[in-house]
Amino acid sequence: MGRAVSSRPASRGERGILRVGNICANVIERERPLSPERRPEDAVEPGLRPRRLEDYIGQDRVCANLRILIEAAQARVETVDHVLFYGPPGLGKTTLAFILANEMGVKVKTTAGPAVERAGDLAAILTNLGPGDVLFIDEVHRLRRDVEEVLYTAMEDFALDIIVGKGPSARSIRLNLPPFTIVGATTRPAMLTAPLRDRFGAVYRLDFYDAAAMRAIVVRGAEVLGIDVDARGADAIARRSRGTPRVALRLLRRVRDYAQVRAAGVIDAAVADEALAMLEIDDLGLDEIDRRVLALIVEKFAGGPVGLDTIAAALAEEPETIEDVVEPYLLQLAFLERTPRGRVATRGAYAHLGVPYPEPSEARPPAQAPADQQPLFR
Ligand SMILES: Nc1ncnc2c1ncn2[C@@H]1O[C@H](COP(=O)(O)OP(=O)(O)OP(=O)(O)O)[C@@H](O)[C@H]1O
Ligand SMILES: [Mg+2]
Repeated sequence: MGRAVSSRPASRGERGILRVGNICANVIERERPLSPERRPEDAVEPGLRPRRLEDYIGQDRVCANLRILIEAAQARVETVDHVLFYGPPGLGKTTLAFILANEMGVKVKTTAGPAVERAGDLAAILTNLGPGDVLFIDEVHRLRRDVEEVLYTAMEDFALDIIVGKGPSARSIRLNLPPFTIVGATTRPAMLTAPLRDRFGAVYRLDFYDAAAMRAIVVRGAEVLGIDVDARGADAIARRSRGTPRVALRLLRRVRDYAQVRAAGVIDAAVADEALAMLEIDDLGLDEIDRRVLALIVEKFAGGPVGLDTIAAALAEEPETIEDVVEPYLLQLAFLERTPRGRVATRGAYAHLGVPYPEPSEARPPAQAPADQQPLFR
């Protein structure tokens, strides 16, 4: 096994956080119970990751498509087409990659874009795959260009073109490989090059989970971890988990600790509410940092528009931190809008903060107006 291959997926702690390239992001991510990024404490207990499609909760459309893909491949006695999963962190991309291999009854090897340093490393990984095996490449958008080029031929023709010798006597030899399946995962699909994207036969986007799925994930997690939680307790945790299973499972563990110390180990709605209030997580799953950003826009900048750099400077954070770590969920709740002139707090944000919304006649344009209809004055 090449050194770029590991038996487990690369930990999120080694990557995403560094991606934003600043220390503040690192600190915020480490301290935030709501961060969707993977952390050491999320080390998955055996059984916590669903291993079969039938145990996988939510993402119904993706699961239905995967089922057809798998059944069709099995009926033809072929390998599955190359698959790409994309979507925000913590939604189940890695989990689905392993389920796919498991359902096909094949082995899975794991690597990650930044871990494959040279084209030769990838060649070594590929030549070690058995027939039908799955190679899971996490953060596939971070593959180096020369490595990617090797992958193109491998994915298309199941072959490696190797140059033997040097100078005028150099010649290219084609090495055929047994068929295999590449499963790629990325949180940043826009950063994938077009030729690479085109070589995936099946591309699936994972979305945030709805409330019912989140509740079911909390209940299942509690069962696996042996935690006593009633329906309303599960609901209280699910509601604040930002549609993200990783966050739900982390909050479940934190609430369990609280229940153990303060409430004889049983999680009901009151215990969950108290525990989450101690973590400063409000009803909608906003934490201290989210609220600071919203309050700043509403109170100091009259609801916006205000530039990202100004927000970041006022909070003594890096702009990338605000953009990558704080804004996605605020945008999802429609509490914030990104307009060409800056960030705008919406009516929903005012309501959540308990601040009266200044009606348009009171000097500011309605925040709900789509960006292209925003008045140009102000
Ligand atoms: N549908 C689901 N049902 C139950 N648990 C789930 C589901 N999806 C994900 N999980 C759990 O959520 C956690 C995060 O999932 P996973 O590691 O697959 O996310 P990811 O999309 O690969 O994240 P990243 O982008 O950070 O790599 C895991 O503990 C996994 O078991
Ligand atoms: Mg993953």
